[in-house]
Amino acid sequence: MGATGATGNALLHSLLTLGAPVRALTRTPHKPIPGTTAAHQPPVEVQYADAADPRSLRTAFKGASQLFLAMANSPAQVELETRVIDIAAHTGIGHIVKVSTPAAEPDSPVAISRGHHAIEEHLRASGVAHTVLRPYAFMQNLLRLAPTVAQGIILGTTGDAPCNYIDCRDIADVAAAALTSPGIAGGTYTLTGPEAISYPELASRLTTLTGNQVRYVNLAPDELRDHLIRNAHMPTWLADHVTEIQQLAVARPEIPTTTVIDVLGRPPRTLDAFLHEHHAPFRRQGAA
Ligand SMILES: NC(=O)c1ccc[n+]([C@@H]2O[C@H](COP(=O)([O-])OP(=O)(O)OC[C@H]3O[C@@H](n4cnc5c(N)ncnc54)[C@H](OP(=O)(O)O)[C@@H]3O)[C@@H](O)[C@H]2O)c1
Repeated sequence: MGATGATGNALLHSLLTLGAPVRALTRTPHKPIPGTTAAHQPPVEVQYADAADPRSLRTAFKGASQLFLAMANSPAQVELETRVIDIAAHTGIGHIVKVSTPAAEPDSPVAISRGHHAIEEHLRASGVAHTVLRPYAFMQNLLRLAPTVAQGIILGTTGDAPCNYIDCRDIADVAAAALTSPGIAGGTYTLTGPEAISYPELASRLTTLTGNQVRYVNLAPDELRDHLIRNAHMPTWLADHVTEIQQLAVARPEIPTTTVIDVLGRPPRTLDAFLHEHHAPFRRQGAA
């Protein structure tokens, strides 16, 4: 599931590269799945599935032995994911790989993380074998900062606190390993890149990368939340989520794990490599 999303789409490519049979689920099967073409050999099997439509899940899961479950954040996430787990259990799926979050705790200060805890509990109670991936912030999220970075500013509330980032392609490779290697399936994996860096350090690296001065402006949590709602037009629940996540990073300094190298036998992708690969959107318009 989530074959059009950040981790699911990267996983689709990892599985296709491994030659593993895969069915890509989406609510919009008429649209091309990013990175695939009609000429793909063997053709990618694409099927309609909406977690809000139980019948579509029963049809989509038929004949499948394993399920990758990554669901966009929303206020309905717990209801949707627990329904997916129930239907997967009833249709005979034998292993679920779920994308969760590091602070998946019942009393987490981050509402979405409390939701992930509830979903993980539901998964454990389902009796289906499962692997839980708990990645820190995706490097790919940083692309959403590009419009303000191109204006020379990064806004946040984390001060000098170090933050972990991971490239979605590494999450996908760990998911692919869990789906294809019995020795890896069944674990709970907290996933990070090789280093944790602060926003001021990120601003400094973007300054070097783009040749434009990028400065970090530290806001109070309420100021960031207001900015996200008024200027970035985020729904309130998402602005709350971003603010809560940043406050958690201040309360609990983030430290990289060695999980990616332990599981894959190679180091995780670096933030510098990611920024270099995606430098264009961070540059000011008209800059070389
Ligand atoms: N972003 C981060 O930094 C971060 C960090 C840690 C954990 N996480 C967790 O990662 C998860 C998100 O993963 P992601 O970024 O790969 O997802 P994403 O890019 O937000 O996309 C997720 C997918 O959800 C699917 N989806 C949404 N509603 C659906 C529904 N009703 N039925 C079926 N599919 C539905 C969409 O598929 P279609 O639109 O094609 O149907 C989309 O492909 C979240 O649970 C989040 O908490 C994220």
